[in-house]
Amino acid sequence: MTGYPATALRVLATWRRVAMLNDLAVSRRPPRGLVGDLVVKGDPLRPVAPRLSFPRATRMGLTVIVRLHAGQTPATYMKAADALTHAWKVHAVRVTSPERGIVLLTATASDPLARPGLATAPAALLSALIGALESGGAWVMDLRTVPHWLIAGATRSGKSTLLARLITQLAPQPVALVGIDCKGGMELGLFSSRLSALTTCRREAVAVLAALVVDMQGRMAACRSAGARSIWELPDLLRPVPVVVIVDELAELYLSDGTREGKAEADQCSTLLLRLAQLGAALGMHLVVAGQRVGSDLGPGVTALRAQLGGRICHRVNDPGTAEMTIGDLNKDAVAVAQSITAQEQGVAVCTGPDGGWGRARSHLTPTEEAVTTAMKYAAMTPELPAIDRALAALEGDGK
Ligand SMILES: Nc1ncnc2c1ncn2[C@@H]1O[C@H](COP(=O)(O)OP(=O)(O)OP(=O)(O)O)[C@@H](O)[C@H]1O
Ligand SMILES: [Mg+2]
Repeated sequence: MTGYPATALRVLATWRRVAMLNDLAVSRRPPRGLVGDLVVKGDPLRPVAPRLSFPRATRMGLTVIVRLHAGQTPATYMKAADALTHAWKVHAVRVTSPERGIVLLTATASDPLARPGLATAPAALLSALIGALESGGAWVMDLRTVPHWLIAGATRSGKSTLLARLITQLAPQPVALVGIDCKGGMELGLFSSRLSALTTCRREAVAVLAALVVDMQGRMAACRSAGARSIWELPDLLRPVPVVVIVDELAELYLSDGTREGKAEADQCSTLLLRLAQLGAALGMHLVVAGQRVGSDLGPGVTALRAQLGGRICHRVNDPGTAEMTIGDLNKDAVAVAQSITAQEQGVAVCTGPDGGWGRARSHLTPTEEAVTTAMKYAAMTPELPAIDRALAALEGDGK
């Protein structure tokens, strides 16, 4: 691409032809006409290309707005996106529909996520700079705005890397981090010195979640007696520390191994997680849950939990069902975009924004060494959660 002016001219000059070739143009007249007294039949006469706005320059390329013909849907344009990419000689064209009857075509000059720079963002409490948005802005996860998150993706798509980035960002903040990593603790174990608790098996997870739910009820009572609607309304001295519970691989908690105890544990996990999600937001308890699949094959509880996890991040997925379940209820177009993420694009995801919008983004890769040194550096900031320690100690006592 040779810069904005040339591309803008190319967009305008090729529009009619491109629209005709891709069935975007519609003939307003019937394929029959009157010439004098004669009725003539034939191909639709002079199809009219939809109206195009003047291309607007953006940091990454340009955007144009197209007014749809009556009866047209954005899907037609999504199908034509590849053709537009070639005609305009750009890296990619994305189709979104900000309002009925209008599509917004966003052309990018190069892939902004191929080597994302790290934009800066203000460091607010419970907010983390995860990486870069395709639009060129900062990808921020703000738990104060969106309290709970679901992160989906096939194996090696970038889920744990994203969690590592999140923890690295939260580590310097006055926040308790609780890790539930039942895949042996290999991912979250890197951060053990900064975690207030780390569980590596489901039995421990149940104990920790139960202790958190009890703690949550204490917080609720504190708010009630102080006449506060959330812990943020409490005076500084009374405010309990926010807790972020991070789960790497949800299926490990939900899948039953067939035994009666296994089933009971899975049910307990499901109930406790749902409880935390339903009531935790106002009480400073946050859930960030990653999983390869988030379907009801994990049990009935997973659908209810999913409904409570307002923030959604979808990496590359193997089955369309997972993309649909992660971001389908937010936006259909987003599902198609998530499905087009390739195996090479590790860390690339479709994520929801705070304003209900969505976009493509890429997380910042946190090397193992950086994860470990960050956790050590802020180890002294790790809040004690005595209730959890007691629960885990009791479990150990039982096991002996
Ligand atoms: N944002 C990123 N930028 C660059 N490379 C990445 C990024 N995210 C992930 N990767 C690469 O992809 C690899 C796999 O990522 P990760 O371990 O996070 O996948 P996962 O989704 O947790 O997989 P699994 O389900 O198997 O645990 C990483 O080791 C890293 O090399
Ligand atoms: Mg992983």
